[in-house]
Amino acid sequence: MTYIIEATKAGGPDVLAAKDVTLETPSAGMVKIQQTAIGLNYIDTYHRTGLYPVPFPFTPGLEAAGIITEIGADVTGFQVGDRVTYPAGPLGAYASERLIPAANIVKIPEGVSDEDAAALMLKGCTVEYLTYRTYPVKEGDTVLFHAAAGGVGLIACQWLSARGVTVIGTVGTDAKAELAKANGCHHTINYSKENFTDKVMEITNGEGVPVVYDSVGKDTFMGSLDCLQRRGTMVTYGNATGPVDPIPPGLLAVKGSLFLTRPTLMDYVATREDLELCTGRVFSAIKDGSIKSDIRQRYALKDAVQAHKDLEARKTSGQTILLP
Ligand SMILES: NC(=O)c1ccc[n+]([C@@H]2O[C@H](COP(=O)([O-])OP(=O)(O)OC[C@H]3O[C@@H](n4cnc5c(N)ncnc54)[C@H](OP(=O)(O)O)[C@@H]3O)[C@@H](O)[C@H]2O)c1
Repeated sequence: MTYIIEATKAGGPDVLAAKDVTLETPSAGMVKIQQTAIGLNYIDTYHRTGLYPVPFPFTPGLEAAGIITEIGADVTGFQVGDRVTYPAGPLGAYASERLIPAANIVKIPEGVSDEDAAALMLKGCTVEYLTYRTYPVKEGDTVLFHAAAGGVGLIACQWLSARGVTVIGTVGTDAKAELAKANGCHHTINYSKENFTDKVMEITNGEGVPVVYDSVGKDTFMGSLDCLQRRGTMVTYGNATGPVDPIPPGLLAVKGSLFLTRPTLMDYVATREDLELCTGRVFSAIKDGSIKSDIRQRYALKDAVQAHKDLEARKTSGQTILLP
């Protein structure tokens, strides 16, 4: 029997509930996957609360790994038995098995486990597009990366430091500071206790950084602008503390002719070419040791409610997976 986690209405974690379903045979272009590991992502909470509107009822989740068990017509390049993963949906990953367009999946290479794929695909692809294609970092850069001990954050610390970039990372606790440092973060700032803007200026001898990667959102946005060098790039890509308030464009001039972008992974993997570029770089980085998973929380898929509670209470660090 197949089971899914469904949210029937917008709300807190308790709107999530398990449900048995019967899957159809895959139609043209689709495959059926028996899922082995599912990635938990902060965006799953935005869908659940309605911050990012989706039609209810729906099954959350954008990333998982598994094995193909059935193939629809007109699918080329995949066969039953292939181990596959997908980094960016479509929605519906919180399921023991699911149907998905073949256009959205990639094969998992030898040497990469299903759990690693589920932990690293969406978050690794995020770090890929942020640091190669949104603001392409250069060896010798010093960057500010917020929530450095989180799922995306730890991968960023590893990958940036492997590329010769000095990482300043913000974290909510001293234990998270130790974890970020162990993953390549050079300078940590506990933004629960310290003014992160002052600390960034101190670390950079008053110069500021060329880029800030900010997923914390509302609470850190203005302080992040003040960490930037003249003509620096502000990348606001998440809302852990709520969506950023609107600002007048003129503020970017006052702060030093800044660039502001609000990117989302979906626009960086929208074509098959981009999907393969992005996932290919993540797999290469896993293979050459630049990045590795740090799965610090595992929950049964049926305990998705608790997983969401812990994620939103800042109790998690590194990556989290749900096991069907
Ligand atoms: N735009 C995109 O394409 C894209 C793609 C992937 C992820 N994201 C964003 O990147 C961020 C990280 O995603 P993730 O899945 O890896 O999550 P995560 O970093 O593991 O969890 C979010 C972290 O944000 C920090 N945080 C600060 N204030 C918070 C608050 N009031 N409530 C909750 N958390 C708070 C916490 O770390 P501390 O306790 O250390 O502060 C928390 O652990 C999320 O904002 C997500 O939406 C965006």
